[in-house]
Amino acid sequence: EPRVDKTAGAQSPAAPPALLTAAQRRRPHRIPVWFMRQAGRSLPEYHEARAGTGMIESCLMPELAAEITCQPVRRHDVDAAVFFSDIVVPMKLADVEVEIAPGVGPVFAEAANSPAAIARLTSHTQADFTPIEQAMRLVVDELGDATPVIAFAGAPFTLAAYLVHGRPSKDHLAARALMHADPASWDTLMSWCADLSAGFLLAQLGVGARVMQLFDSWVGSLSEADYRAHVMPYSQRVLATVAAAYPDVPRIHFGTNTAHLLPALGEAGASVLGVDHRTPLSEAAALLGGRYVLQGNLDPALLFAGIQALHAGAKRVVDEGAAAPGHIVNLGHGVPPNADAQVLTDLVAYLHSLPVPHYPA
Ligand code: CP3
Repeated sequence: EPRVDKTAGAQSPAAPPALLTAAQRRRPHRIPVWFMRQAGRSLPEYHEARAGTGMIESCLMPELAAEITCQPVRRHDVDAAVFFSDIVVPMKLADVEVEIAPGVGPVFAEAANSPAAIARLTSHTQADFTPIEQAMRLVVDELGDATPVIAFAGAPFTLAAYLVHGRPSKDHLAARALMHADPASWDTLMSWCADLSAGFLLAQLGVGARVMQLFDSWVGSLSEADYRAHVMPYSQRVLATVAAAYPDVPRIHFGTNTAHLLPALGEAGASVLGVDHRTPLSEAAALLGGRYVLQGNLDPALLFAGIQALHAGAKRVVDEGAAAPGHIVNLGHGVPPNADAQVLTDLVAYLHSLPVPHYPA
């Protein structure tokens, strides 16, 4: 099976990794790019590696999780690996009954929708991150200094959006109702989520991940006032825990439908803000006054729109990103499972062929 030569390729050891350089607000040697959900169903080798093994089970098999994490780096020459796992894996490791149903998402044996159910859930206070640490060590061994690994976790609200319903929901109505109906239970639930996600991040960073991303995918369903009052303190707790332990690790904070929340998501303690495809990066940069490096934000639909439209979209995103103090290219959300892997490889090569903009200091 192919191993990455730690000294080969355009990411030469002479140049520090472009993604880290950009995140530190310096001009990288090439435009850094990675994709949310790059490790997964768009890759034939992923289906082959995982055949017959459940999703969560795969995450707990260190060799397999490490192999899947490295696959997109080998194939696409992306500027970072994102650790193959899931936002609910820490809960599984804390002995909470949860599955990931194919085509559905996380499904819990019990919904955390009453004070008693929340008390039962949050009595699971010990998570054993050993399989995570073992997998991450294998990844860092393979990728070496050339390609940084991104640690990730789910933000408390996005976790709560699954927990309160017990499964995926369209508008997270029950979670948003609980937030107002029972502030004490909400605090218990969100504090537990925050501590578990912080533990998951520290486990990954402790064995060599060099960047982190907090996924608050569904936070866009909140008003800014509710976000600041009922959610931000818990995300702040996660990001502050990481910042205290690893002050130099870039902290990417991502959500979708967040045009109205970007300043607050930054104030939660991010150093890099992920922006979805609905908000032009130039608009986000103007709104944020140069405080954050930006990540994003190609519309995933462009992966299916032909090479001309894709390249034009990529060029536009790079041009608009040049208004920020640094820019990491990504999609506005995850790679769709039916995306053509070759289109992603070509997109990375195209981005790496573009001149690197001069970002404002
Ligand atoms: O490549 C990567 O991005 C790294 C691995 C990763 C996965 N999930 C693997 C996965 C990451 C970072 C996640 C995060 C995650 N998980 C989020 C936040 C990111 C986002 O997309 O907004 C969320 C909301 C989840 C919860 C979850 N897990 C959902 C909604 C699903 C999809 C269900 C489906 O089948 O459509 C999953 C399953 C999942 N997580 C898969 C993968 C590769 C698919 C599993 C399979 O192959 O069947």
